[in-house]
Amino acid sequence: MTDTAIIVVAAGSGTRLGRGVPKAFAELAGATILEHALRGLAASGSTASVVVVVPVGFEADASAIAARAGVGAAVVAGGATRADSVAAGLAAAGDARWVLVHDAARALTPPAQVERVRAALREGALAVVPVLPVVDTIREASDAGLGAIVDRSVLRAMQTPQGFEAAVLRRAYEAAADARGASTDDAQLVQALGEQVVPVAGDELAFKITTAADADRAASLLGERGSAKGAAMDIRTGVGVDVHGFGGDAPLRLAGLEWEGQGLAGHSDGDAVCHAIVDALLGAAGLGDIGGLVGVDDPQHAGAAGSVFVRAALELLAEHGWTPVNVSVQVLGNRPRIGTRRDEAQTALSAMVGAPVSVSGTTTDGLGAIGRGEGVQAVATALIRRAH
Ligand code: CTP
Ligand code: MG
Repeated sequence: MTDTAIIVVAAGSGTRLGRGVPKAFAELAGATILEHALRGLAASGSTASVVVVVPVGFEADASAIAARAGVGAAVVAGGATRADSVAAGLAAAGDARWVLVHDAARALTPPAQVERVRAALREGALAVVPVLPVVDTIREASDAGLGAIVDRSVLRAMQTPQGFEAAVLRRAYEAAADARGASTDDAQLVQALGEQVVPVAGDELAFKITTAADADRAASLLGERGSAKGAAMDIRTGVGVDVHGFGGDAPLRLAGLEWEGQGLAGHSDGDAVCHAIVDALLGAAGLGDIGGLVGVDDPQHAGAAGSVFVRAALELLAEHGWTPVNVSVQVLGNRPRIGTRRDEAQTALSAMVGAPVSVSGTTTDGLGAIGRGEGVQAVATALIRRAH
């Protein structure tokens, strides 16, 4: 038994929004209002048991939307009024101790608001409502015109999710069976039983998308969120390792520089740092490795400088829409001493990669082939991002 069931009411027609589809199925920033609402609940971690209440005929659509949002939900048909829809949801909500009732139309409700409601229930409240102070000056209206100003400091606007001991909400709905029709507030029915309703802080982002202007505001907030997320998410990381043994008469080339002493053996110039960077870049983009890139044994690459392979890797990345953010390389070996020319190496490699490259050096404390001075190993990581 999960402790909390969530009823998401999405069976309204959306007359005031006027999109020609039930409001919860209207699109905002590439997804339906219902999907945004369910994603918000999923982000709050409160989706163990969800019932989505939708207009008759929209059950299959709603199941597909819930699946896209990563929420396993039961879907039931709603009724003519919001209260009828909540009652239909309650009938399908199982035996959880607590029930949250949430308007799909409050699609941008911050996860923290859901958590505040749940926390108040855990602390013993029987009914919990997120509320906001009223900011506008409010007057009574009558057929005769405008009446008195209402003191707004004593007014609160109600939001959702509202949380209840399930038994209390069921009792309230049974007690109000005939009279509940016009109620748009579940806590009001509980209060009518004489139970205390506990307020917690609401949030302006939990506004109910009701009019076209609300939908525009929600779409622009979601759009901003989407692009921020996209920029943050569309990055990849990769790792590359290469080892070359000392041998032959060629000069030592490493990290794009020429060094004193015997060079590294290899079909190319043996620049293990450049080769490791190539594999890190290709790995980040999921584009294979250096062997598949250029045919390392190809005669045209005999003695080729590491920069040739780095350039080829960058071209391939660019063709696939990727650009490097930064690269970090560590060189393992007894010689050359990287620290003596670190700045030069970083400058040369950064120019080659077109992004910051940091270089560090270490020994293996005499252990293994590298420790015996037989060669050099390089380990690189690369961060890449979508080029826009
Ligand atoms: N709702 C419902 N069943 C109804 C009426 C409303 O499930 N018969 C839900 C809506 O889908 C919405 C929430 O209750 O998530 C709040 O209702 P509201 O904002 O009034 O939505 P609609 O009734 O769809 O809009 P309108 O009143 O403009 O037609
Ligand atoms: Mg309505």
